[in-house]
Amino acid sequence: MNYSSPLDFWLQSAAEAFGTPSYVYIASAIEHRAAALRAAFGDRFALSFAAKSNPNPAMLDFMRRHVEFLDVSSIGEFRTALAAGWLPERISFTGPGKRGFEIREAIEGGVGELILESVREAVLADEEARKLGLVQRVLIRVAPPSVPKGFGDQMAGRPSAFGIDWEVAAEEIPRIASLVNLRIVGLHIYSGTQCLKAEAICENYRNFLQIFGEIYEAGLPPPEKLVFGSGLGIPYHDGDLPLDLDAVAAGISIDLEAFTSQPRFTDTRLVLELGRYLVGEAGYFLTRVIAIKESRGVRMGICDGGMNNHLPASGHFGMVMHRNYAMHKVGGYGEPEKVNLVGPLCTSIDRLAIGAALPRIEEGDLIAIHNSGAYGLTASPIHFISHAPPSEVMVEADGLRDITYIRALPLAAH
Ligand SMILES: Cc1ncc(COP(=O)(O)O)c(C=O)c1O
Repeated sequence: MNYSSPLDFWLQSAAEAFGTPSYVYIASAIEHRAAALRAAFGDRFALSFAAKSNPNPAMLDFMRRHVEFLDVSSIGEFRTALAAGWLPERISFTGPGKRGFEIREAIEGGVGELILESVREAVLADEEARKLGLVQRVLIRVAPPSVPKGFGDQMAGRPSAFGIDWEVAAEEIPRIASLVNLRIVGLHIYSGTQCLKAEAICENYRNFLQIFGEIYEAGLPPPEKLVFGSGLGIPYHDGDLPLDLDAVAAGISIDLEAFTSQPRFTDTRLVLELGRYLVGEAGYFLTRVIAIKESRGVRMGICDGGMNNHLPASGHFGMVMHRNYAMHKVGGYGEPEKVNLVGPLCTSIDRLAIGAALPRIEEGDLIAIHNSGAYGLTASPIHFISHAPPSEVMVEADGLRDITYIRALPLAAH
């Protein structure tokens, strides 16, 4: 094998040691990302990792040492986080469909803040806190009336399930404030994700500041925390330009300065909530070509893992049209030629690449799909057609670590 780079050495070694399909996460790449965020924003923002982007327990444990807070979106993620060593007070709980038992367990378990997405949820939480004889800290999630152009997915600026619409916030926030077993300690906005344009991100944050400012003018006690849904995107596809993080920091710093110098916000902790920007580019999905088919003039590589392991790369998660994820042939060199890569499933939508330009692909080759560290395994229909789930591997300073979370169900092979 030709190790054309240290990365390929690790990818090849991971495939040999733990098989394919598999996810490989490079720990140092996550550390660099966290360091880049700290360097760009200084101490203006604390960081909160969105567990939904990669809830592998080893990843959550790793994150415990690299970010201040964790945001979970189900009681399952909350339990995983506790088992991974997170203190409950460092955890927030978002999600538009929290059920009563989830709210109860989170409060009983000492969750730092419930992020309330509706008055209904507030009433439920107040009742559960009352039964437990507690006062629960909460943030209120607000859905802004607009989101600048350039976000891959929008959670506000149109009818949306997330948070309290800005248009009714003046009526609904006082109703929440009147609930005696809840203490509002801040606000939360997550209005859009996957943006690669620095100016759009700054404009979005300015909208947040405006909303935060107006809500606090109306008389809530000064906030302890204001959470900014980061929206920071990563370049998934060939031709995407990476986000200019320094331009985001430079473009928003004066506004942040002016905001935090107001007396009611001087003790407020600003928090950047994010997933993909921290872990997305640190992860690779490895799949092996198990067969080649020439079909009506098209060369196809049939791989051992497809959309069952990596729904986003197949184009069925937040994409209107399929665009190939960036990828490479591990240890591959030679003239690129067009190839379609498909997974092992019996459905024509199981496609990892259409017309990708890669060095000639042969049976046995290893393909690495980039940008797979966030929403790869966790957003995939792993049960479909009952193939074994992929292994997960962390590349650390002292070597490879098997962090496989979802183990294969033993097949009845007697
Ligand atoms: C409430 C909330 N927080 C955090 C995230 C993480 O977003 P990203 O991975 O794009 O940073 C999302 C994404 O949907 C979200 O809805």
